[in-house]
Amino acid sequence: MNIQNDRRALVKSLHYIFGVTLSVFIAFHLLNHLFALDGPEKHIQIMEQFRLVYRHPVVETLLLLVVFFQIVTGIRLIYKRDAQAIAEKIQVYSGLYLSFFLIAHVGAVLSARYIEHLDTNFYFAAAGLNYYPATFIFIPYYFLAVASISLHVSAIHYLKTKSKPAAIGIAVVGIVTSFIIILAFTDSFKWLDMPLPYEQFIRVLI
Ligand code: HEM
Ligand code: HEM
Repeated sequence: MNIQNDRRALVKSLHYIFGVTLSVFIAFHLLNHLFALDGPEKHIQIMEQFRLVYRHPVVETLLLLVVFFQIVTGIRLIYKRDAQAIAEKIQVYSGLYLSFFLIAHVGAVLSARYIEHLDTNFYFAAAGLNYYPATFIFIPYYFLAVASISLHVSAIHYLKTKSKPAAIGIAVVGIVTSFIIILAFTDSFKWLDMPLPYEQFIRVLI
């Protein structure tokens, strides 16, 4: 029993350390997406700056490893957790969505980059958000990703501090940010045209 508890505590500490590390990337990544409010060129210009750091082979390898271990440790934590309180349930379900999203999202980015030889810039994400019928899948897909990350953090904050207003505040800021990113990527649902290779990529997919 004690060995099991020790192991769980270790997995939880690793999930915590990887989680904090990954949050740094996520913060810059979402900030990058908010720059799309100023148009695709601005988004791409900022992404090119950020890529100098996270596309460095050492940084990118570490980032992809952290993503992998975050999913593995998260699933292990769910497996031995009897979620009772609403905050615990939110933590588990947001974690499950994040597992699915991270595998799909990182897999899509890497295969578009190395198999399709596409530059995975603004237009790569926007293609799915702007063309019918893909838009019906990609709007909830991206919206729920950003909402889940904020719900996950909000639940952690509540379970650690029991402060309801702060937890609700974190969730609301995240959900509003998620909506703003969707607005930015779709020109407020007036829809955007993509360069041909990106349009073809999404039309073949869906
Ligand atoms: C994407 C990024 C993620 C971040 C930044 C993150 C971050 C965190 C942090 C900081 C904690 C608190 C640990 C503690 O209480 O010391 C936590 C808890 C938890 N996370 Fe994640 N997590 C992420 C993804 C996931 C995934 C993919 C899953 C699972 C499928 C998951 C499942 C859980 C569970 C079940 C707990 C509760 C642990 C417990 O108290 O028993 N998380 N997460
Ligand atoms: C919880 C939310 C998200 C997480 C955890 C996440 C995570 C990641 C990770 C780990 C990468 C791989 C970076 C690399 O190795 O190059 C990536 C790339 C990318 N993501 Fe996300 N992402 C999230 C949300 C989004 C959203 C909402 C969008 C757009 C609507 C998006 C668009 C992209 C694009 C375009 C790339 C390629 C970046 C590049 O080529 O430099 N992501 N994301």
